[in-house]
Amino acid sequence: MTYREQYEADKAMVEEALKGAFRDRAPRGDIYDAMNYSLLAGGKRLRPILTLETCRLCGGDPMAVMPFACAVEMIHTYSLIHDDLPCMDDDDLRRGRPTNHKVYGEATAVLAGDGLLNAAFETALAGRAGLEPERVLEALDVLARAAGADGMVGGQTLDMAGEGRALNQADVEELQRLKTGALIAAAAEMGCILAGGGAEERKAVRRYASRLGLAFQIRDDMLDVTGDAALLGKPTGSDARGEKTTFVTLKGLDGCAALVEKLTGEAAAALEGFAHPEFLISLARSLAGRMN
Ligand code: IPE
Ligand code: IPE
Ligand code: MG
Ligand code: MG
Ligand code: MG
Repeated sequence: MTYREQYEADKAMVEEALKGAFRDRAPRGDIYDAMNYSLLAGGKRLRPILTLETCRLCGGDPMAVMPFACAVEMIHTYSLIHDDLPCMDDDDLRRGRPTNHKVYGEATAVLAGDGLLNAAFETALAGRAGLEPERVLEALDVLARAAGADGMVGGQTLDMAGEGRALNQADVEELQRLKTGALIAAAAEMGCILAGGGAEERKAVRRYASRLGLAFQIRDDMLDVTGDAALLGKPTGSDARGEKTTFVTLKGLDGCAALVEKLTGEAAAALEGFAHPEFLISLARSLAGRMN
């Protein structure tokens, strides 16, 4: 299978699993509609694919960790719903659709995010049969920490606090490591943990994911300036409107492109010790030049 075929196959399996996530739930007002509206709106599914593929990398069966892959995508989707709220980035378009609060109203959008966060842990726990309990606990510990105030929530806090202020490179790096890098790293590390990867393997996977995560957010900041909203499925110019300091502000577009290249090379090099790192290396390379 080529890299692209594998990516599409993984993505199709993730879509199928996400579609079934709330299938047997009784309707409760419009909460499940609002949760599914954003969860099933497409998206690259990068994080769940990382979980599946680091599991495969470390010798595990990717299908066995699908509930954990879905869990990280649920948390990511919740972070996007809240990120778009008027009190945060105030954006109207996400994944090619009007944002959640534009359709369901702000109160339901907040609750849909809350619902998805909790559903993530319900989903992973419901799908734990056949996995070693200690590994399940460790994976969920990694996920909970990465999503919280020492991870994504902390990064979003710094992002909001930085609006209208000049930040230096260390500030922006820390903010991005938390708001985007932490969840990407957790997605990758969970696959490795659940497959029974040892300390050295986990360290290599974490290194790969930290470089990839930073490159991913720098590319996101570049696309906010140069991207095409129709291709991205979200508005451009959001960072300038929010007066955010990003890597583009600090380094310019050429400086960012060079940094993305460097980080992508480091991500690839981190996986040298594995027998079959090809897919994950191609993934890092393809994200470096992504247009959406
Ligand atoms: C967007 O994430 C928010 C960032 C952390 C940069 P993605 O670019 O992964 O968004 P989707 O999931 O493909 O919609
Ligand atoms: C958001 O970063 C990262 C999250 C934790 C959701 P951005 O605000 O740059 O993400 P986009 O550009 O709106 O997708
Ligand atoms: Mg934001
Ligand atoms: Mg935003
Ligand atoms: Mg952005």
